[in-house]
Amino acid sequence: MKNKILVANWKMNLSPDEEISLLKEVANLFKNNKKNIPDLEIIICPSFLALKQAKEVIKELPNFHLGAQNCFWEDKGAYTGEISPLYLKQIGIEFIILGHSERRTYLGEANEMINKKVRACLKNDLCPIICVGETFEEQQEGKRDYTIMHQTSTALEGLQVDESKRILIAYEPVWVIGRGKAVEPEQAEYANRVIQQTAIDCLPLDFVKQKMSFLYGGSIDEENVVSFKEQKTIDGFLVGGASLNPKEFFGIVLKM
Ligand code: PGA
Repeated sequence: MKNKILVANWKMNLSPDEEISLLKEVANLFKNNKKNIPDLEIIICPSFLALKQAKEVIKELPNFHLGAQNCFWEDKGAYTGEISPLYLKQIGIEFIILGHSERRTYLGEANEMINKKVRACLKNDLCPIICVGETFEEQQEGKRDYTIMHQTSTALEGLQVDESKRILIAYEPVWVIGRGKAVEPEQAEYANRVIQQTAIDCLPLDFVKQKMSFLYGGSIDEENVVSFKEQKTIDGFLVGGASLNPKEFFGIVLKM
């Protein structure tokens, strides 16, 4: 059985000091409620500036892991302002969010760039969390399936995988991110099946079944998480806004 997964994406919402205080609050909730916590992997993705200090805070929390919100596709060199996957690995980072819609929209991150970043992550034994999802216009024009199949297949193109690697894909319909209203759980389940089938078209079946997990992201909160959790193909969640409130985030944890 695959682990259940909960990813907290803090985006650029907090200062590094605020991120560390938030992480300490979350850590305390875990330490004080050990008995009630379901078995799951928690992946906290603060800003780059807080990663090293965050590593110290999570040291004694076995289910906790750290993720970065992006990386570059080369390990080192003359790439001003970029962040190396190799050096992220060296400071103890295990996961990297790639292709988030905010980066696709504001920074022009294209599918081909995301593919190069996925390769760089796998080469460095980092687990990519690839975000895919349609915009409101694409949804209205009936292009959801095409969009998520295209984004998934280009991200996974030409990858060399073996059982030492892992890949996570999060279905994140762009039009419900940060809106306070998610899609219907059945729609997320359908989209995740499309994504899973696309992954099977690109990669060995055993790898997809055993080493890939499929998440949903977009306005998940303490109230709606249970109805999504019941869906068969959804292995976990990528949570933005609700992960900034320690009680709400912990509330989601308890319902998983
Ligand atoms: P949200 O963000 O939970 O605030 O909708 C999710 C995301 O952007 O990853």
